[in-house]
Amino acid sequence: MEAVSDKYNAVVVAKQALTADLFIMKVKPDKPLAEFISGQYVLLGMSSNVPRRAGCEPEFKESKPDRMVLRAYSIASSGLEPGLLEFYISVVSNGALTPRLAGLQPGDRLMVGDKIRGFFTLETVPKEHKTVILAATGTGLAPYVSMMRRHAVHPYPFRFVILHGAPRSWELGYLEELRLQSRYLSRVAYVPSITRTKEDPWWTGESGRITKYFQSHLLRDKLEVELDPAKTSIFLCGNPAMIHEVGETLAPLGYTAYTTQTPGSLHTEEYW
Ligand SMILES: Cc1cc2nc3c(=O)[nH]c(=O)nc-3n(C[C@H](O)[C@H](O)[C@H](O)COP(=O)(O)OP(=O)(O)OC[C@H]3O[C@@H](n4cnc5c(N)ncnc54)[C@H](O)[C@@H]3O)c2cc1C
Ligand SMILES: NC(=O)c1ccc[n+]([C@@H]2O[C@H](COP(=O)([O-])OP(=O)(O)OC[C@H]3O[C@@H](n4cnc5c(N)ncnc54)[C@H](OP(=O)(O)O)[C@@H]3O)[C@@H](O)[C@H]2O)c1
Repeated sequence: MEAVSDKYNAVVVAKQALTADLFIMKVKPDKPLAEFISGQYVLLGMSSNVPRRAGCEPEFKESKPDRMVLRAYSIASSGLEPGLLEFYISVVSNGALTPRLAGLQPGDRLMVGDKIRGFFTLETVPKEHKTVILAATGTGLAPYVSMMRRHAVHPYPFRFVILHGAPRSWELGYLEELRLQSRYLSRVAYVPSITRTKEDPWWTGESGRITKYFQSHLLRDKLEVELDPAKTSIFLCGNPAMIHEVGETLAPLGYTAYTTQTPGSLHTEEYW
């Protein structure tokens, strides 16, 4: 009888641990996927027969044996490296897939869904918009890494402000890459902010949840950004509570959600 692992169609080619619970992984599908647009995602899968990482909490909902555990992951690579996909992943201790992905090493195999998904892309932003705010918590940064890597080579016609919130500075993945890009690309401002300052007293940068940028005049005063849905598109990715709170703050300013049917200036990707 066929095992679900027979459906594995990709190999891990590199893995970089930022902390015990946060990693960047590069994967090479056996057959290159179709072209994707920065901001899109694919499904990754592993057999439930693979043991979860030791020390994790019990599974939120126990997986049945020999099932493909599939979850969505934003692509962090730009698509300019043919055949390679990069992912930025945090381990959810009671999760089904991430404690299994955490054990993968270069050379190990997994499944990559062959369908490229999602509309969380800059191609949907009206050309007359001058500025795009890209705001993320945690690994919600992944789609913006893809966008900025593409922007460095094939510039988009917008000014970008990237707001990234993480608990501690060592959980600000891609910090150096984005710092360098914001120096090299004059129309990119990068604002990393940490929330657990007591645990990271060495950090001298911004602190506090990224919601504060939308609930104050900081964007206008520090970055000359107008929160006007006719001029500025806003992308929010990651923690759903952040997305709801920012959405509520922006609604009185006239921001409405972008959907494939309605042309709003607020684009959201909730991770759970
Ligand atoms: C479009 C899309 C793109 C995504 N891209 C990424 C990505 O690039 N990187 C990434 O790390 N994740 C990403 N996710 C989240 C990912 O799909 C999984 O939900 C996540 O990795 C947890 O999977 P799991 O099987 O380990 O946990 P599950 O078994 O699915 O969940 C266990 C419990 O944890 C909750 N939960 C799920 N995810 C999180 C989380 N991140 N933080 C806290 N609680 C959570 C669930 O609601 C549930 O209660 C994305 C989700 C979507 C919808
Ligand atoms: N133990 C670890 O070292 C570790 C490392 C990585 C991931 N993980 C686990 O992996 C999962 C996802 O981690 P993640 O880093 O992607 O995301 P996360 O843990 O949800 O946090 C990322 C950032 O989002 C902030 N945040 C939370 N709610 C918010 C809100 N309503 N508005 C604005 N900002 C908000 C957090 O601030 P606050 O600090 O104020 O909450 C934090 O700075 C979680 O289950 C996490 O526990 C654990």
